Amino acid sequence: MQTRTIVTMGRGGTGKTTCVALMAKYLIDTHSTPLLLVDADPDQNLAEMVGVDLEAAGKMTVSELLSETFIQKGGTTVGVSPSARIENRIWEHGLFESESFDLLAVGTKWIEGCYCLPDAALRNALGSITRQYRYILIDSPAGLEHLNRKIASSVDTIVDIMGPSSKSFYHVRRARRIIHEAGIRCGRFVVAGGFAFPPDLGNRVTAETGSEYLGKISADPVVAEYVLAGRSLLTLPDTSSAYRSVGELMDRIIRAYPDDSLSTPGRNQGTDNLIG
Ligand SMILES: Nc1ncnc2c1ncn2[C@@H]1O[C@H](COP(=O)(O)OP(=O)(O)OP(=O)(O)O)[C@@H](O)[C@H]1O
Ligand SMILES: [Mg+2]
Repeated sequence: MQTRTIVTMGRGGTGKTTCVALMAKYLIDTHSTPLLLVDADPDQNLAEMVGVDLEAAGKMTVSELLSETFIQKGGTTVGVSPSARIENRIWEHGLFESESFDLLAVGTKWIEGCYCLPDAALRNALGSITRQYRYILIDSPAGLEHLNRKIASSVDTIVDIMGPSSKSFYHVRRARRIIHEAGIRCGRFVVAGGFAFPPDLGNRVTAETGSEYLGKISADPVVAEYVLAGRSLLTLPDTSSAYRSVGELMDRIIRAYPDDSLSTPGRNQGTDNLIG
């Protein structure tokens, strides 16, 4: 089984988290599982949007677990590598598991000082955990700083969600540059219009940003109602216009993945130069 990782990014409030929740609904509805949702935003909105209360489920964020494992408990455990230690803790205390998807929150409390050990340990641990899934969806915070941490140093598709302002054009160009500079390997970088993106600007995106435009996410008052009420977007009716537009987006993303039976190991090889 090949794991496919899809990451959303974009400026604040463009609808990234909502989009990830609707992508999750699409993958669940099409039985494209096992599915892992990763909330990389310290504000942690994703869990609520898919109806999960991590605290009530007794789950901790990866940052909390890192801090507890490497700082508070300190020292080394003879015979157990740092990545195995954190991996075990994430499996046990971090990963929220349900029948249709699992969820992991990265959290906020990064350790002061030297990041090297936890970052390397975390990368190894996450690499091992994420291999178990067919699809991984990562919800990012606004801005681009997090990319430098390389939570995901190799992803299949990055979807940049554009906001209503012309600054979004600049953001897309800058995002590509930073992804390149941060050394993040990405198979395909695509752009989608967020719910507030003016549809008539769609035909300018490719010319002005050099990036592939996959269409626009519908503005859907039912989605806004659900979010306001804290209801899980996984329970939205299939007729929701936002859900349908995200489904079309996902079709276009997934269609580009070569059939698993035809693909060869090292699928990202030769495609890294799409960025930059
Ligand atoms: N398709 C949509 N139709 C209508 N309203 C939407 C849609 N998508 C998002 N919204 C509204 O926009 C607001 C912001 O959405 P969301 O939290 O998904 O954005 P974000 O980009 O993740 O924000 P942040 O940058 O703060 O993480 C939400 O309150 C939601 O109600
Ligand atoms: Mg968000």
